[in-house]
Amino acid sequence: MSTSERIRLAVFASGGGSNFEAIAGAVARGALPLDLALCLSNRPDAGVLERAVHHGVPTAVLSPSDHPNPDTYVQALLDVLAAHRVNFIALAGYMRLVPAPVVQAFRHRILNIHPALLPAFGGKGMYGRRVHEAVLAYGVRWTGATVHLVDEQYDTGPIVLQEPVPVRQDDTPETLAARVLQVEHRLYPLALKLFAEGRVSVEGRRVLIRG
Ligand code: GAR
Repeated sequence: MSTSERIRLAVFASGGGSNFEAIAGAVARGALPLDLALCLSNRPDAGVLERAVHHGVPTAVLSPSDHPNPDTYVQALLDVLAAHRVNFIALAGYMRLVPAPVVQAFRHRILNIHPALLPAFGGKGMYGRRVHEAVLAYGVRWTGATVHLVDEQYDTGPIVLQEPVPVRQDDTPETLAARVLQVEHRLYPLALKLFAEGRVSVEGRRVLIRG
C-alpha cells in the first residue's frame, strides 16, 4: 500500500462490537478519513454484524471451524478481503489468531486493541473479561488500553498507542472493563487516523509517529 492510498478497512470482531461502533461513528462524523469496506466475524450471532448492517457496511462470516483444511480457510479469508479491496485490518474483540499468511500479506497493516497495558496481561487466552480478572487478581494500580500492530503471535506486535486507566479498590471486572472501554473507544479511532494520514512508520519494534 502506498502512503497516499486511502485506507479500505476491514474490522474483524467476534462480539458485541462497541469498538466497531466507535470506529464507524468516527467515520460517519467525518473524523476518520477512511472507507469501512467490510466487517468480518467468526460468529454468525455476533452483535457486531447488526451494527455493521446499521452503518451500511458489508459483512462476512468466516470461521476456521467451517474449514477442516487450514489452507482453504486462509484462501477464503484472502479472497473475501480481495473481493472488498481491503488494504488494512483492525481487530476489535476478535478472538481468533490471524493466520500467518494473512499477517504476511498485510504486514504492518493489521491493528489490534487490547484491554490492558501490554506486555502485561496479554497472550493466548487473555481476552475480554479474563484480562480484567487477571488485572484485579494481581493487584496492579494501573491498567489501560493498548493499540498494537499484529504479528504472528498473540499480543506481541509493535505498540502504536497506550493509555493508562487507574484500578479502583472497589472495581469488579465489569466496572473496570467499562472504564477501559471508554478509553478504547477514543484510542482506536485515533490510532487509525494516524495511519489514514500516513503519519506512522515502523522501525523494528518501535512505531514512530510524525507530528
Ligand atoms: C474489548 O475490550 C477489546 O479490547 C477486547 O475485547 C473487547 C471487545 O469489546 N479484546 C481483547 O481482549 C483481545 N485480546 P467490543 O466487542 O465491545 O468492541
